[in-house]
Amino acid sequence: MALVGNAAEIYPEIFRRGIVPDIVTDQTSAHDLVYGYVPAGMPLAEVRALRQSDPAKLMALSRASIVPHVRAMLDFQKHGAVVFDNGNLIRTQAREAGVENAFDIPIFTEAYLRPLFARAIGPFRWMALSNDPDDIRRIDDLVLERFPDNAIVTNWIRLARENVPFEGLPARIAWLGHGARTELALAVNDMVAAGALSGPIAFSRDHLDAGAMAHPNIMTENLRDGSDAIADWPLLDAMTLSASGADLVTVHSGGGGYAGYMTSAGVTLVADGTAGWPASGCRARSPTTPRSALCATPTPATRTRSTKRRRRASAASTCHRRRWCGVGDRPQIVPLTSR
Ligand SMILES: NC(=O)c1ccc[n+]([C@@H]2O[C@H](COP(=O)([O-])OP(=O)(O)OC[C@H]3O[C@@H](n4cnc5c(N)ncnc54)[C@H](O)[C@@H]3O)[C@@H](O)[C@H]2O)c1
Repeated sequence: MALVGNAAEIYPEIFRRGIVPDIVTDQTSAHDLVYGYVPAGMPLAEVRALRQSDPAKLMALSRASIVPHVRAMLDFQKHGAVVFDNGNLIRTQAREAGVENAFDIPIFTEAYLRPLFARAIGPFRWMALSNDPDDIRRIDDLVLERFPDNAIVTNWIRLARENVPFEGLPARIAWLGHGARTELALAVNDMVAAGALSGPIAFSRDHLDAGAMAHPNIMTENLRDGSDAIADWPLLDAMTLSASGADLVTVHSGGGGYAGYMTSAGVTLVADGTAGWPASGCRARSPTTPRSALCATPTPATRTRSTKRRRRASAASTCHRRRWCGVGDRPQIVPLTSR
């Protein structure tokens, strides 16, 4: 069910009527107080005009409007709703406008994604460079065949193949863990080699993957060692991926309008059917870095947990860096490079 309205008016009104939804979040573009958020009580034409004539006034109006908007979210939370910030900076705006407890609302990454990242499960995706949708359908079949016990992924693939139209190059995403990502990618490479697919497949992942993004109010909020604002993870990630010979590595600042707040890294590998792709180390379970391009890097949240292990490791003669190179869910420390 959808309702056309301004959330800063609708949320308090729903609460006033004694309705407490099960789940509440907000997906306005509150990170951008001029072009992304529409203040309450203001016709759109007026908002558009103010964008040009007086953006500072519009920002002030937007921020003032976010106050009742977030207070209503906090009210829902107090009365039992599951409330989370979807990564649009609405809590940050609210706190700046005087809602001191805005951060009682958790960020979705900490609440829901980090437990997955800690198991190296993240947003893995693949694109058919042939532009042939049947290639993706064949890989759908492969996923269903290879991971029948993964109910979430198989349910998703069945729904996606029925209901998600392709846009641009045919593509699919699935939240798979490291061992599964590697298994799938290698099997797909074999399919390319055997001519079972009509062209190469590019494997990638969302920048919102473990260790791939730093943003103190989204991805790296509330880290146990207090390093929320330290943006080393994506840069280390990009450097190791580059050194690994990934086909495309990107470092982004911004995305969703967060310029100045966020740094993230992206990676793409093209499975072109080459024997031994992406590198022999991948199969041999050696820590050579091409395999790392397929796997998630460790979530920053686990930094503290492994500090002792890392110290122990660095006392040895080889240089160690944590990386998820275990099979399935188990993180292990492995030597990455020799000194
Ligand atoms: N969590 C993530 O991974 C993630 C991913 C993408 C985007 N985001 C963030 O989520 C937010 C939304 O992204 P999007 O791409 O859907 O943005 P969008 O700008 O396409 O959509 C936002 C919508 O909110 C509406 N809106 C603005 N003010 C409103 C108000 N007061 N009441 C009701 N509606 C209002 C706008 O008219 C627009 O339709 C952004 O801040 C974005 O950065 C988070």
